Amino acid sequence: MTTMLRPPPAVPGVPVLGNALRMMGDVQQFFVDSYREMGPVFRVRALNQSFVIMAGAAANRFLLERGEAVFTSEESFGGLDREFGMRVHVLRGRPHRELRKILAAGLSRDLLAARWDAITAESERILDGWAGKPAIGAVDACQRLAAAQLSIAYTGASSAARFETLRSAFELVLDVTIAGKWPAATLRWPGYRRARAEIHRFARAALAERAAAGPGTAPPDLLDLALAAPYPPDVQAGMALQGYFAGVNTVAYLYSFMIDVLLRNPEVLARVTAEVDAAGPLTFERLRDLPALHGLVMETLRVYPPAPGSARTAVEPFDFEGFHIEAGRRVLVATCVTHQLPEHFPDPRRFDLDRDFTAGRRAAVYAPFSVGGHTCLGAGMTQVLAVATVAMLLRRLRLAPARPGRPLRITATPGPNPGRRFQISATPRPA
Ligand code: HEM
Repeated sequence: MTTMLRPPPAVPGVPVLGNALRMMGDVQQFFVDSYREMGPVFRVRALNQSFVIMAGAAANRFLLERGEAVFTSEESFGGLDREFGMRVHVLRGRPHRELRKILAAGLSRDLLAARWDAITAESERILDGWAGKPAIGAVDACQRLAAAQLSIAYTGASSAARFETLRSAFELVLDVTIAGKWPAATLRWPGYRRARAEIHRFARAALAERAAAGPGTAPPDLLDLALAAPYPPDVQAGMALQGYFAGVNTVAYLYSFMIDVLLRNPEVLARVTAEVDAAGPLTFERLRDLPALHGLVMETLRVYPPAPGSARTAVEPFDFEGFHIEAGRRVLVATCVTHQLPEHFPDPRRFDLDRDFTAGRRAAVYAPFSVGGHTCLGAGMTQVLAVATVAMLLRRLRLAPARPGRPLRITATPGPNPGRRFQISATPRPA
């Protein structure tokens, strides 16, 4: 005889808004606090949506081992597929593995290596543009920097001219389809339709130009691979956009959090600066060997994960940690709650450049890029880019907070980041 388990308990929230306010702010902290109060599985309500949150080591293991069988991403990421042909998030099984393999080649570190000089030159140009400004919006500036870097890596050209249109349309789609902040009717707004059409034109023009010019430099990039892939034109366009879309905000949020960490922790700043100053020319190969900078990137991703959960829907009922989750329930695996648990990361509040992540990775408790079949395809590239960007920044600029003493206020728009009001000033670093 089987006993029917109860549904997970609900986190208390105010009527109507539910837990929305906290989920729009420091959502990672909300997950950690709720995990401590409620245990490894609980329900939250955010405006018109209800989610089951699963968190902790067992949740990460569940996503890793059973995620592909028990969950679909259709409800959370279907909007990206329908609106922009970005299909990798929603596919399952063999079709997913096939598309993933092609994208993985197009988003690889080899491409970064092949275009390193162009990426470095453009990054340095952009960073030099920060110098002398008394109040730079760090998140905005980092988004522009990440967008330029990623579009050179994936397509060979910078997309700076279209930056604002691309950013606003993608953020709206994310807010409507993944975060559920606005009603679906928002996608019919004329302003949004115009932005969407512009993004489509951008992707199609890039593909058409490449088709006419023939393959780019070796290795084949995302455009070459999309053109050669056995998919209809809208999915090829989605592939061309994929790196840009999945990467710009997450990478920019990582950069902004790293800047915040450096400004708030003089001893961290001193150590990484000394390492960078002693490093000699910043070639692609040299970047592998900068342990303090790698520590900065890994610790920032641990403490301030830009994508702290994987949103899914249960395709079949299942039991987890003594509770029953029905088919059709929206589930969010809060993959980074483990980052704050002392049993996995001793003294988790300490920002430690020397922390060893080997065991945490192996046990799937260090999971800034999620775990399982839909793990981030840009993780390798992100880590190299982040190390290089901080190194370039420290060599060229001296940063200061525009408003000293202002506390870090994390907001989720659409993912957790230091917010628009986080402003910095930059001066050229004396030779
Ligand atoms: C700090 C930077 C980044 C973070 C924290 C991050 C995080 C994540 C996470 C958590 C997922 C899993 C989503 C899920 O489970 O539903 C994911 C998926 C993905 N990421 Fe990233 N990402 C980053 C940068 C990038 C970059 C630069 C790219 C570049 C192209 C990229 C491409 C992708 C793709 C294609 C997927 C979907 C994989 C699939 O569904 O099979 N990401 N990312």
